[in-house]
Amino acid sequence: MKRVDDFRLRLGKHELVPIMIGGMGVDISTAELSLVAARLGGIGHISDALVHDVSDRRFDTSFIKDKTKQYKYNINNLDKTDIKFDLDQLAEATRLHVGKTMEAKQGDGMIFVNCMEKLTMNGPRDTLRVRLASALDAGIDGITMSAGLHLGSFGLIEDHPRFRDAKLGIIVSSVRALQLFLRKNAKLNRLPDYVIVEGPLAGGHLGFGLDWAKYDLHTIVAEVLQYLKGENLDIPVIAAGGIFTGSDAVTFLEAGAGGVQVATRFTITKECGLPDDVKQEYFKAKEEEIIVNTVSPTGYPMRMLSNTPAIGSNIRPGCEAYGYLLDGNGGCSYIDAYNRELEANPNNKDFKVMDKTCLCTHMRNFKCWTCGQTTYRLKDTTRQLPDGTYELLTAEHVFRDYQFSVNNEIALP
Ligand SMILES: Cc1cc2nc3c(=O)[nH]c(=O)nc-3n(C[C@H](O)[C@H](O)[C@H](O)COP(=O)(O)O)c2cc1C
Repeated sequence: MKRVDDFRLRLGKHELVPIMIGGMGVDISTAELSLVAARLGGIGHISDALVHDVSDRRFDTSFIKDKTKQYKYNINNLDKTDIKFDLDQLAEATRLHVGKTMEAKQGDGMIFVNCMEKLTMNGPRDTLRVRLASALDAGIDGITMSAGLHLGSFGLIEDHPRFRDAKLGIIVSSVRALQLFLRKNAKLNRLPDYVIVEGPLAGGHLGFGLDWAKYDLHTIVAEVLQYLKGENLDIPVIAAGGIFTGSDAVTFLEAGAGGVQVATRFTITKECGLPDDVKQEYFKAKEEEIIVNTVSPTGYPMRMLSNTPAIGSNIRPGCEAYGYLLDGNGGCSYIDAYNRELEANPNNKDFKVMDKTCLCTHMRNFKCWTCGQTTYRLKDTTRQLPDGTYELLTAEHVFRDYQFSVNNEIALP
């Protein structure tokens, strides 16, 4: 029986262990986590979600404090159209986060940044251009474009000197989305270097509707492989979503995938950015407590634990500090939901906002417990300690377990 280590992922001249750790914002897939993957010969992701806040926490900058001060006058205003991102500061924060991570990199693997295009930041094109260009400036090995994939995003950086040397990849959940992207980008003469096919069991936002359970990753991967073959396109396909053991990964590699992207198993590692008490919530989760709902203002369904504090919270929209989901017109569906409930409950401070959540603030505070469908199995990957808590794992342990395990076995610490 084969193991993941019998395969290699080829990206241009690079030969890698075919394991990618997926991007998890806000700083859940930390620099430390990505560095382990790179050291072990695979690919790690950092994320540029709320990059100013990540920089403030890591590098002692004060981007968020300064922005909050600048827009303080607007805090009680229901209209958030005034809030804008300073592009120089966005570039500086991105260069710090990416640059410091790349400086620390060791080993033959690579580090990519996950850029969710749904972070439209009240200026979708300009802010995305700056995010992508600054990550390239700071030496990132590659960029994965995700959530809200903008068909024109490659074009935003076509004049960057690293446009053809850095690896650029996209996340899709259907062959149709891939076809659209390739058609739209044909004139750039620059194909994606890899395509991540994310199925319905993934964590974070889903590229499916609430009927996600009807879809199956193996089928979508097979459709994408067949389409690429038919078009004579040699682009590695990376399967993602619900791949829990090395043997699960091997089934995709044997079917022709170039690699796998995994995330959930790393959420309970020491290097993961979630606070330790939240990691214990992930361990404790039961299958029926893992839900998919529509509280994310992005408009995409999102998977999370049902006891997520963000659900029902009536926190004031935090756009003066954050505002990453403001669309091109300064709107966000949480602002609408919050204002509606505020008006309907003039005498009740404890009202609930059930349909949407303030995703920026809650992700920033690790109060939105997004997770993959297999989270309920995490307790089987470690030992329970005498006090009832579960032992955290190292990212190296989990990575190597994917790399070398056979027969669906999971190595305990
Ligand atoms: C906690 C968590 C946060 C995530 N955040 C993001 C994100 O910010 N951007 C993104 O493109 N994917 C995100 N994902 C999806 C992962 O990158 C990955 O593709 C997927 O979860 C792989 O499936 P698995 O978790 O079953 O291994 C997230 C996943 C998890 C578990």
